[in-house]
Amino acid sequence: MPIHITGTGSYTPERVLTNADLEAMVDTSDEWIRTRTGIHQRHIKAEDQATSDLALEAAQAALDAAGVSAEELDVLLVATCTPDSPMPGSATIVQDKLGAKNAFAMDLNAACSGFLYALECARGLLESGRHRKALVIGAESMSSIVNWEDRTTCILFGDGAGAAVVEYRETPGGLGLASLGANGALKELLNIPAGGSREPLSEEALQDHRNCIKMSGQEVFKHAVSHMTRTAKQLLAEADWQADELALVIPHQANQRILEAIRSRVGVEKDKVFVNVDRTGNTSAASVGIALDEAVRSGRLQPGDKVMLLAFGAGFTWGGFLLEWSKA
Ligand SMILES: CC(C)(COP(=O)(O)OP(=O)(O)OC[C@H]1O[C@@H](n2cnc3c(N)ncnc32)[C@H](O)[C@@H]1OP(=O)(O)O)[C@@H](O)C(=O)NCCC(=O)NCCS
Repeated sequence: MPIHITGTGSYTPERVLTNADLEAMVDTSDEWIRTRTGIHQRHIKAEDQATSDLALEAAQAALDAAGVSAEELDVLLVATCTPDSPMPGSATIVQDKLGAKNAFAMDLNAACSGFLYALECARGLLESGRHRKALVIGAESMSSIVNWEDRTTCILFGDGAGAAVVEYRETPGGLGLASLGANGALKELLNIPAGGSREPLSEEALQDHRNCIKMSGQEVFKHAVSHMTRTAKQLLAEADWQADELALVIPHQANQRILEAIRSRVGVEKDKVFVNVDRTGNTSAASVGIALDEAVRSGRLQPGDKVMLLAFGAGFTWGGFLLEWSKA
């Protein structure tokens, strides 16, 4: 049953935080950040913006690109680990502001793999035959969960949103094989310890920044490379596609060195991997959606192109998608 991405959109906040800005905040240097991560800058939301505001901008752009009205949507999914508040889901706030009054709306948290998890859920819902049009959004305000005194994490993350309209269409191509996975046993390597039901916020937790991201960078790095590489190779083998047939690989943008390690292990040419981590930093669940939209709008995808999406994040969670790009 052909399910297609028929329109994409993205949004990054106006304010840009450069590596030079970070030099004035923590003991770091532009040179260290560039060589270890490939990041030059990241976007940071305004104080009066929340995740749903970023999501709304990307959503409207995706609907415009697809030529779909908000009322036509049946399904609205927001992948995020930084919702506006614990309740209600940010998806319901987007649903209201967008005027998607016929859609059911819910959040989904798979950290940086969220966009791919949401895409696979949307595909399943459409394949059930009970829903026709879905809006998948990945949106994050990572600046709200970063400890701005911790140089090992605060240099990595940025804010933004990416969105895709997903529809059933009787045209060839569209979403192909997907592979999603998780291993919760490794949760301690990347997490936010406090602020939930296990360790509610307390003055002590705030003082220790336990409401912010804690990460074992080197361990996460190794797992990100091995899981995304394995997923990519497995999908190519299952689909009987060769790496050199791929027109574009759009991976989660966490670190240029991670992207390069995956690229060389999977055997993809340098110019076939989409990179915007230099401008966005790691926007978690928004990352693949933003990159996909930038690839579409810059003319990097042509009808019939074979494309691979890849992601990895806290949990750990990971995933990959094959698709044949279509202007359905
Ligand atoms: C975080 C990351 C960039 C660190 O790079 P690294 O090459 O592993 O660096 P290390 O952690 O080994 O640190 C090397 C040194 O740089 C220092 N350092 C860490 N952050 C620094 C910074 N911002 N500026 C300057 N020095 C820094 C460390 O303290 C360490 O110093 P030491 O050798 O004196 O102890 C890298 O591990 C990474 O990208 N990990 C994956 C992160 C990620 O993708 N997370 C999200 C997954 S979805």
